[in-house]
Amino acid sequence: MVKAMELEEAIKNRRSIRKFKDKSVPREVILKLLDAAQWAPSACNKQLWKFILIESDEIKDEVVKRSGANSLIKRAPVAICVLYQGGYSINKLSSYQSAAAAIQNMLLAAHANGLGGVWLTGIGNTLEIKRVLNVPHAYEVIALVVLGYPEEISRPPKRKDVGELYSVDGFDFPAEATYPTVYSPRTWTVGEISRYRDNSIRATSPTPDSFAFGAGDEFKNECALANSWLHGAGKGLRLMELLPFAGTHTAQIASNDDVGEYHIFELSDEPCAFTQERLRRMGISREVIPSLGDVDKIPLPDESIDSVVCFQKLEGLPDFRPIVREVWRLLPPGGSFLLSFRNKASFYWPYYLKEYRFGKEEVWNYGPFEPITYFTIARYLRQVGFRLEDTVGLSLLPVALGRVTHGWLSQFCRLVILRCRKGQ
Ligand SMILES: Cc1cc2nc3c(=O)[nH]c(=O)nc-3n(C[C@H](O)[C@H](O)[C@H](O)COP(=O)(O)O)c2cc1C
Repeated sequence: MVKAMELEEAIKNRRSIRKFKDKSVPREVILKLLDAAQWAPSACNKQLWKFILIESDEIKDEVVKRSGANSLIKRAPVAICVLYQGGYSINKLSSYQSAAAAIQNMLLAAHANGLGGVWLTGIGNTLEIKRVLNVPHAYEVIALVVLGYPEEISRPPKRKDVGELYSVDGFDFPAEATYPTVYSPRTWTVGEISRYRDNSIRATSPTPDSFAFGAGDEFKNECALANSWLHGAGKGLRLMELLPFAGTHTAQIASNDDVGEYHIFELSDEPCAFTQERLRRMGISREVIPSLGDVDKIPLPDESIDSVVCFQKLEGLPDFRPIVREVWRLLPPGGSFLLSFRNKASFYWPYYLKEYRFGKEEVWNYGPFEPITYFTIARYLRQVGFRLEDTVGLSLLPVALGRVTHGWLSQFCRLVILRCRKGQ
């Protein structure tokens, strides 16, 4: 009999591993893992799984290039494409679940053999993967699993108390245990948004390329603009970033030498810990100072911060006004507020409607959001007493993502960056 303690430890200590040693995995070890996989239960014991080992760099490159799959595949010694033959279950439940059971067995066996890996469904167009790997029509790509010897093992992402997981004889959970399924943050409470972010932050992946939107010219230009404006604000700045979430922008701003103190404001501890871990892993020595509170209660005294930055977060709140009033309170007269937001008065709005409002049944990891117009934000900033100093737009047209636009046209770009100052 397996010792219960050892099994429990193996289950709890397995982590998703996303950084591997440069060391290949012997074929016999992989075969051990596949053997563990095939001892998983399968619907009607059909065992219709197949596993393609992707070891060659050319095939890995081709898979990533053609499907848009997570580029992690290229950095792992081996990727396994998990297939299941369809046609035997009307709604695919049996195929998916049999394959999932096999994957979990494989990951546990990897852990037991000193390897690590991650289960990937962020693999883009699976039809393209099938083409690259010559998979016949009857099989479906269920997931890719990347494996190797761990270079880094992250801290475990939060799990819930077991007591919160069940009810007896019917669905009986407090309202806050579920989330709205719509993208508009106006139907969410701030608490729901915060819990959602905590659970979906993927605390095990604070690497620069963990987040697709972290790449690209738009992101680079947004950070470059913010850095140049902060540079103009003078040395020793006390800066606060609002809601850094996974720290994607923080990592680009934190090395700015003009910043003396870098505060981050968040709704809960998880994003702060994630952001700090991300900076550490990227070798950025900056200490960020976390403050936790509510959008209408940032726990710092009046006029204690020189500059506030907020990147693409206002449009993720049910109401952006309370936090803007808090920014006003935190800044001394003349203090600057730099914010960026996805703009409703741009080509992005119809795309958003199609992709998110009408297109998706569930909200993606970064939580709900809805673009806001420049006019709505600018009007409110003025009402609170901010003086608008500069507006820059990025991505006026979908064919020129990231291109910088100045002047009145900036108000019609996908991303608007605004700099304003608290009136004297
Ligand atoms: C069905 C499924 C799909 C997943 N897809 C991805 C993915 O596309 N990219 C990724 O980085 N992690 C992916 N993961 C890994 C989860 O992010 C990870 O399991 C979760 O954050 C918990 O961390 P842990 O595995 O270390 O306990 C996936 C996990 C599952 C079960």
